[in-house]
Amino acid sequence: MDAQAHWEKVYAEKAPNAVSWYRPHLETSLALIERVSSRGSAIIDVGGGESTLVDDLLSHGYENVTVLDISEKAVDANKQRLGSASERVHWLVADITKSELPRSTYDVWHDRAVFHFLTAPSDREAYVRQAAYAVKPGGYVIVSTFGPEGPTKCSGLEVVRYDAESLHREFGVHFRLLESTKELHQTPFGTIQQFLYCSCRVE
Ligand SMILES: C[S@@+](CC[C@H](N)C(=O)[O-])C[C@H]1O[C@@H](n2cnc3c(N)ncnc32)[C@H](O)[C@@H]1O
Repeated sequence: MDAQAHWEKVYAEKAPNAVSWYRPHLETSLALIERVSSRGSAIIDVGGGESTLVDDLLSHGYENVTVLDISEKAVDANKQRLGSASERVHWLVADITKSELPRSTYDVWHDRAVFHFLTAPSDREAYVRQAAYAVKPGGYVIVSTFGPEGPTKCSGLEVVRYDAESLHREFGVHFRLLESTKELHQTPFGTIQQFLYCSCRVE
């Protein structure tokens, strides 16, 4: 099954709050974004899924928010949940490793739990190229993956786990690591997963 078919099936079969990565609010993501942005910043949430980060960004006054996901079902679910507020968001259904985003457009790139699914080095390289192309020089890239003690699989797919050093190494010297933090995420089923968050500045 290709990646898009996999994720469409996940979102067709599971309620938004019945997936392991569900949190009512992505507090850590929001805090990291707020630290490096202003209300006019152009923000892209890569692989936003059905998360409420977009709701929270809008309610905090952000005016230029893009949500990209490989799953059309996830994007449609967000639009439904947000109602008329969804018209204030740019929506993209795309594979981040294959799509062509516009150049030097985003001030902040956010990804929670997408990069770690890229097990092929060529996909990781395509992702990093995309981030380097689409984020403005001086912009920020915030990426969250499973940490060194996190699960080895998610949603039935193999993942790559990272610590701050190994994640930063994937991005290279043009991304300056500003900070990293770990989070113990409690899944809706009561299990604990270690996440790592890294915030980098694009130089
Ligand atoms: C584990 S979920 C995380 C969703 C959301 N970021 C969150 O934290 O709640 C991974 C998301 O990435 C999307 N995704 C997976 N591979 C992708 C790709 N190559 N390009 C774009 N989105 C992708 C999936 O459809 C899914 O919504």
